Amino acid sequence: MAKELRVGMIGYGFMGRAHSNAYKRLNDFFAVQHRPVLKAVCARNAEKAKAFAEIWGYERVETDWRKVVEAPDIDLVDIGSPNDTHYEIALAAAKNGKMVLCEKPLAMNVQQAEEMTKAVEAAGVPNMVWFNYRRVPAIALARQIIDEGRIGQPFHYRATYLQDWTISPDVPQGGAALWRLDASVAGSGVTGDLLAHSIDTAMWLNGPITRVVAKTQTFVKERKHAVTGKVEPVQIDDACMFLAEFANGSMGTFESTRYARGRKNFNTFELNGADGSVYFDLEEPEYLQFFEYKQLQSGKKVESHLTGWRKIHTTNSEHPYMSHYWVPGTCIGYEHTFLNALADFVMGIESGKPAQPDFRNALQTQKVCDAVLESARTGRWTETGVELEAVGKAS
Ligand SMILES: NC(=O)c1ccc[n+]([C@@H]2O[C@H](COP(=O)([O-])OP(=O)(O)OC[C@H]3O[C@@H](n4cnc5c(N)ncnc54)[C@H](O)[C@@H]3O)[C@@H](O)[C@H]2O)c1
Repeated sequence: MAKELRVGMIGYGFMGRAHSNAYKRLNDFFAVQHRPVLKAVCARNAEKAKAFAEIWGYERVETDWRKVVEAPDIDLVDIGSPNDTHYEIALAAAKNGKMVLCEKPLAMNVQQAEEMTKAVEAAGVPNMVWFNYRRVPAIALARQIIDEGRIGQPFHYRATYLQDWTISPDVPQGGAALWRLDASVAGSGVTGDLLAHSIDTAMWLNGPITRVVAKTQTFVKERKHAVTGKVEPVQIDDACMFLAEFANGSMGTFESTRYARGRKNFNTFELNGADGSVYFDLEEPEYLQFFEYKQLQSGKKVESHLTGWRKIHTTNSEHPYMSHYWVPGTCIGYEHTFLNALADFVMGIESGKPAQPDFRNALQTQKVCDAVLESARTGRWTETGVELEAVGKAS
């Protein structure tokens, strides 16, 4: 017998759509006991929220998120609004005993993220952060390959996350559409927006990052505010590069910018170890590239003259998540990463083995982000303070 999972969605923007799609399709693809019911969507503009509710099938609209977190007919609060809203909504949702799903970055800073983590843990409510790239089948396969010991001792981790949409100095900052350029709403620029994803993936695959040294840059120093029209200093990082040390002794480089002409959402990583390497590029999301220096034969590792990079089309039913979808050789897309994440979350509730990344795990990514920004300010190597145990948890 299906159990209702009554959803209160905060925000109807990009993520409001991606998450709503996941709720609607969950039971079509995953055999779970819970059935999402789209109860309420909340945003500040009632008319737009109403139009959204009609398209996606939400029963009602709210313009104050407090009404959602306090509503007795809501089981799960999903925070898909800008970064400066996550803290207050998550605390109130936990206090009201709701399950909490929150978009990344978890918070504006470590202090907020710590309080949010304590709040959901004290309330004992299931919680997760939407670091959806973990749910790309090719990236999940990379994790499987690493767990199987096929990479051996890791030496290098290399991540890039590049975009190009803020190159023009005429792009305004702030307001409903351009809050990502307003530090008081976004917390930071590319560090929290893009590198948070790269850091989450990196620590999931290669373990805790212990120390960083960073350089940020703001190329356009002043922009017009989208609402007031006033020209104001730009306070976000347009670009950020950092070096990292991992607890396992490997080194990392991370690069992110919104000034890489031609790059729209160029998200890549490569891990090189003694016995092999993996490479992923979000522009070819169904492929994982794998180099195996020593191949396994009858359970023993032997040298082979056939070694070389393999481009694995991760569409077979034995690949992560793919048995839930189509016949081998057919792809899934970006939206399925959210569906896979939701399915893991629900299966976590049902099995009693919570899905990752939970708030405590995402707090560790927040610590790295804050250390990166701190290092960029001081020019010094900075300890991240990441809890090794919290990163090491299986997902
Ligand atoms: N996981 C990912 O890959 C990914 C991708 C994009 C965005 N995000 C994150 O998702 C969050 C939302 O980003 P987006 O791109 O969907 O933004 P968006 O601008 O498209 O949508 C934001 C929504 O929040 C609503 N909102 C703003 N303030 C509110 C308030 N006080 N109360 C209620 N609703 C409010 C807006 O009306 C809008 O519907 C951010 O934290 C962002 O970092 C994650």
